[in-house]
Amino acid sequence: MNLNIESHPLHDAAAELSYPPSEEFARQANVQDPGIYRAAAADPLEYWAEEARQLHWHKPFTEVFYRDKPHQNEWFRDGELNIAFNCVDRHVLAGLGDRTALLFEGEPGDTRSISYRELHVEVQRAANMLAALGVRQGDRVAIYMPMIPETVVAMLAVARLGAIHSVVFGGFSAESLRARINDAGAKLVITADGGNRKGRITKLKDTVDAALRLDAGEPSPVEHVLVVKRCGNEVTMQEPRDLWWDEEIMTYDAEHRPQAFAAENPLFILYTSGTTGKPKGILHTSGGYLTQAASTMRGVFDLKPETDIYWCTADVGWITGHSYVVYGPLANGATQVIYEGSPDTPDWSRWWQIVEKYGVTILYTAPTAIRAAMRIGRQVAQQHDLSSLRLLGSVGEPINPEAWRWYYEVIGGHRCPIVDTWWQTETGAIMAAPLPGITTLRPGSAQRALPGIYLEVLDDAGESMDPPTGGLLAAVTPWPSMARTIWGDDQRFVETYWERFGDAYFTGDGARFDEEGNLWLLGRVDDVLNVSGHRLSTAEIESALVEHHAVAEAAVIGVPDEATGEAVAAFVILKTQQQLVTPEDAPRQLTQFVAEQIGAIARPKQLLIVPELPKTRSGKIMRRLLRDAAAGKSIGDTTTLADTTVIQVITDQISGR
Ligand code: WTA
Repeated sequence: MNLNIESHPLHDAAAELSYPPSEEFARQANVQDPGIYRAAAADPLEYWAEEARQLHWHKPFTEVFYRDKPHQNEWFRDGELNIAFNCVDRHVLAGLGDRTALLFEGEPGDTRSISYRELHVEVQRAANMLAALGVRQGDRVAIYMPMIPETVVAMLAVARLGAIHSVVFGGFSAESLRARINDAGAKLVITADGGNRKGRITKLKDTVDAALRLDAGEPSPVEHVLVVKRCGNEVTMQEPRDLWWDEEIMTYDAEHRPQAFAAENPLFILYTSGTTGKPKGILHTSGGYLTQAASTMRGVFDLKPETDIYWCTADVGWITGHSYVVYGPLANGATQVIYEGSPDTPDWSRWWQIVEKYGVTILYTAPTAIRAAMRIGRQVAQQHDLSSLRLLGSVGEPINPEAWRWYYEVIGGHRCPIVDTWWQTETGAIMAAPLPGITTLRPGSAQRALPGIYLEVLDDAGESMDPPTGGLLAAVTPWPSMARTIWGDDQRFVETYWERFGDAYFTGDGARFDEEGNLWLLGRVDDVLNVSGHRLSTAEIESALVEHHAVAEAAVIGVPDEATGEAVAAFVILKTQQQLVTPEDAPRQLTQFVAEQIGAIARPKQLLIVPELPKTRSGKIMRRLLRDAAAGKSIGDTTTLADTTVIQVITDQISGR
């Protein structure tokens, strides 16, 4: 465990800067009273109950919270609701059917505007279609899609039936998709022929075919594949398994009566990387999840559904896309932009064109994207009218003060508060962030736990640490949108998050509070990497590498990277008897192999062929030494190494490059 995180260059530079909310912003903010923290602390359960009452309950809850064991938490458990009804129907019933729900922009420039009434029709048809294909409460449906409106419709239709979706990011490989489909036992896969990305077509259906072919021999749980026609690229349809979404859906009724489900009915599984090679299927349930996703949308993003044009640039394949593209905004009746493609297609002005064209008022993105825009230069952004923006958000990794200031000045025109939101796949929704009408912003800090949330910095023994000492970030009380388990692996859920501190949830992040009570995140303390705000596990990449016939052993670490925050670096020992890979060509072949095994996001930026890896006498790879060597730092204590010459050889190799 790396606890050597007491000072951090980011904070020291930022410490003197602070930005109180402007009077103008404060006056119109959804949350104006700093007393909200005290009020929530006086009765946290009542605070969350009140937030939950903003939803529509077919059967109101009477019991707010029930805990069996520290890791077994239930919220609003005797209440019943329908998630899709909350995100769509109730807005139409409230007379808001004409309001635009989705402003879709495809990468090639095609657009669609979808009102809540139209969304309602599509979701009902889709629910009827899925029901006819045998999808029932509790069934799993895998969704492997580009960022198009049908993806949102598919998720809502699954939710409407009380079934469980597992969205798999469209950049994942056939092998990763197969593993996720099988782990969840998905009976239906919803995909598209392709998606547009960087001017090319990502052939999603081909990847689904490959994933299902990998099952040859084993029985696959998949009965049907529904294929949305997006790009018109040629695909092979296998009868009777594969069906065209567009042809099927037209045959179904546009009326579907939503059934009420218990608050704890599972809503989705989302796989995320952990410290082992096997991704964890994080399970979220319904009432608590939607309560906090919707509540933070109002409090942190200050959403005004009548007037705001909201845009979150995350893909639905990640938790940010679940909570802040689909559930949070739609539960509040927001109007939002959905963009299919990449920020640099056809050129780097694309995002700013979109902001100008739709009059985006709230923009939520990741530091890595801001840094990319920064490198391109402010002129590109400044050629566009960004004056509609009134609030900016950041997520995924700490935002370095330089990027913060650029975001604030160039994109926000010194006018827009920046909400730096700290949370995780496991937390389901934002946990720490400014409340923009009352918080004095400190660039680089996620500021403070939201009302009703309690975070502490603990030492290894679970003792609270005094500011400003760094330690392990824990959530010491339960929150509504907390993960309920790891799909099919309760034991791993307990071991990963709950065993370390007993009662408190262990986040895996290092953090410290400063004397003012601001929270500073210090990065992961486990073997999880954060590349461009995406979580990757060193173990997962290592196991992908050793799958290659030429690889004897592999060690993967994260190295600091200006663009992506962290980058993947791999150290590989080749098998001596291998003939197919020459050491000269190995790095290219092996990085490509990782991309094929996991997905392009996991492709190592550096791959070094080494004769040996630094190991302890018990055979454990000392990644810390590799990190120091890669960073060009002097190698610290090597007394526990079995062979101290090994690291010297590697250091020489690195400096020789
Ligand atoms: C990191 C993304 C600092 C953190 C929502 C966490 C952050 C992991 C921030 C979760 C932030 C996320 N400041 N670090 N504002 N937001 N992180 O599950 O290490 O993809 O544990 O969820 O990202 O990543 P995940």
